[in-house]
This record gives sequence, C-alpha cells and structure tokens, in this order.
Amino acid sequence: MTQKKTIVVFGATGAQGGGLARAILNDPNSEFAVRAVTRDKTSDKATALAGMGAELVEANIDDPQSLKKALDGAYGAFFVTFFWDHFSAEKETTEAKHLAEAAKAAGLKHVIWSTLEDVRKFVPLDDNSMPTLQGKYKVPHFDGKGEGDQYFAGVPTTFLLASFYWENLIYFGLGPKPGPDGNLVLTFPLGNKKMAGIAADDIGKCAYGIFKKGESMIGERVGVAGDHCSIPEMATTLSKVLGKQVGYNEVSPDVFRSFGFPGADDIGNMFQFYRDFDEACNNTRDVQRSKDLNPELQSFEQWAAANASRIPTE
Ligand SMILES: NC(=O)c1ccc[n+]([C@@H]2O[C@H](COP(=O)([O-])OP(=O)(O)OC[C@H]3O[C@@H](n4cnc5c(N)ncnc54)[C@H](OP(=O)(O)O)[C@@H]3O)[C@@H](O)[C@H]2O)c1
Repeated sequence: MTQKKTIVVFGATGAQGGGLARAILNDPNSEFAVRAVTRDKTSDKATALAGMGAELVEANIDDPQSLKKALDGAYGAFFVTFFWDHFSAEKETTEAKHLAEAAKAAGLKHVIWSTLEDVRKFVPLDDNSMPTLQGKYKVPHFDGKGEGDQYFAGVPTTFLLASFYWENLIYFGLGPKPGPDGNLVLTFPLGNKKMAGIAADDIGKCAYGIFKKGESMIGERVGVAGDHCSIPEMATTLSKVLGKQVGYNEVSPDVFRSFGFPGADDIGNMFQFYRDFDEACNNTRDVQRSKDLNPELQSFEQWAAANASRIPTE
C-alpha cells in the first residue's frame, strides 16, 4: 500500500476542522491521513479523533515553533483561526502570517486557508453608513482574515470562504425566541435579502473535496454554502420543523449593533454587509459548486429537519 499523504488539520476538535478530519477518517479509501492539531491531546474530543485513526499533535497558532513541529513532513494543511476566542482582528492577521510562513518553510504542497472577505474593499473606512470598529476595521472577524490573505503569496493555497453556520441558531443565541406577544421570532437586520448559510460539518466536507481535487484548486477562492435563504424563508422552514409559528422581527443594523452581547457591533456590521452586498456574497458562495465538492451537502430544509430538537425556543 502506498503511504497516505498527511493533512494537518487545525481546529480539528472544532466545527470547520472537525468536519474535515471526520470526512477523511470516515473514508476508508482516502489517500490522506489526518494529523489533528489540538492544544490538549487528552481532551475527550481529541481522544475521540485518535480513536477514529487520527494522529494527534499539540500546537498553538500563536506559537510559531509549535507550528513548525506540527507541519513537519506533511503534504498539506487546513488552516483556520479563532476570532471569537479573543475578538482581535489584528491578532488574527498575525496568526495568518505565522501559519503561511510555517507552510512555506515546511514546503507544503496544498494549503486551505479559511478566510473571509476584507469588507473594507466593499465599504471604505470613511463610509459612515457602517461604524468603524477596533480603529481600522468594518467587520473585524472578516477583515483580519482577509488582510491575512496576502501572506499566502507563494504558498500553494486554496482560499475557502465559509458562510453563516446554521448552528448559530442553536449555540450563538440567534435562533427563534418568543417576541412580546409570546410568538417565536427570528431577529435579524437582513431585510428580505437572501443570506448564504451552511451546516458547519459541510464546510469540512467541502474542504475534503478541495484536497481531493488537488492541484487544480490551487489559487482558487471557493465560497461554500448549502443554501441561500431569506429570513422569511428560514422562518417558514423553522415553523414547519418546529411545529410552531416562527415570524421575522426585522430590525435595522443599528438596532442589532446595540444589543450589547460581546461582538454585537461586529456581527451587526457583518449582517449589513450580507444585506447590502448580497449578490457578491452569494455569488462567491455558490451552492452547486459546493455540492460538486461535497455531494452530501445539506439544504436549510434538510439541516433544520435533522436538527429541530436541538434548536432552543425559550
Ligand atoms: N460561526 C459562523 O457562522 C462562522 C462563519 C464563517 C466563519 N467563521 C469563523 O470560524 C472560525 C472558527 O472556526 P470554528 O468554528 O471551526 O472554531 P471552533 O469550533 O470554535 O473550534 C475551535 C477549535 O480550535 C482549537 N483552538 C482554539 N484556539 C486555538 C489556538 N490558539 N491554537 C490551536 N488551536 C486552537 C480548539 O481546539 P483545542 O481546544 O483542542 O485546542 C477548538 O476546538 C472563526 O474565526 C470565525 O470567524 C464562523
């Protein structure tokens, strides 16, 4: 048997990297082996991956020496950074630089960098229709990643742009909640525009499709989405699967930014970007192209039906 090619998966115990690690490990005929990066080899999630056949390596994206060790001898890597652990766009750009430099030094043959748009290319900093945050960003958790793209010049990279995880309806407090009259509502500042969304697990499955395609994907920017849905469309689907009427509480981006939870201003700006540049965002995140990479790709209806019991409605 020929030696499998090692892919180093960052965030392997999380959403994006976890989807990729499981996609490879669940494929008995895969040409790839998984080296799963974690900061704690003894955690339940890490040992579960080891049980599925992954090699574990301890590394931290803020420690360049540990990156070097993690990438040693590998064919490729999946790089993702973790904005919501620290909320700093500048830090995320620095992490991108460290990851790209480590990839170059290790001579990797194929890297996937999980990036997002630099929104400042769409909404200049002096455009006051969207507040500037952290001194020099419009959507910090997008812009810092987008700014990091430059460091991948000279690294054989596919740029992967994820879309809104539908799991945000479960874990991020963005699901249906009772309004003043007790009826459930989704509260978003999206007008009637369609937003690209995806089941988190499908992001990694698409990434696996990119690694399988190999060289032809180098230099490509690939957005992934399972569906493009307006909030009224999502409300209709949720009403069906929850067996309870769900409505739309449409608010302005200003009202959303004022909600006060950590990152509300960043997320309010993100939704304003999705609303005002819907065509560009959705064209980048093409559903058919995502399905070609991942034939198991779920639509919102499929995801909602499978996850209805996990969506809190209190
Ligand atoms: N939520 C959305 O809708 C959405 C949409 C598009 C993009 N994104 C982006 O997705 C990114 C996060 O990816 P995710 O959702 O896959 O993350 P996640 O599920 O939160 O997973 C994070 C995993 O990465 C590891 N990790 C955390 N900090 C680390 C560090 N310093 N060094 C090495 N590993 C570290 C942790 O593993 P250990 O504890 O095992 O080390 C953790 O299990 C964010 O930057 C966000 O902006 C999110």
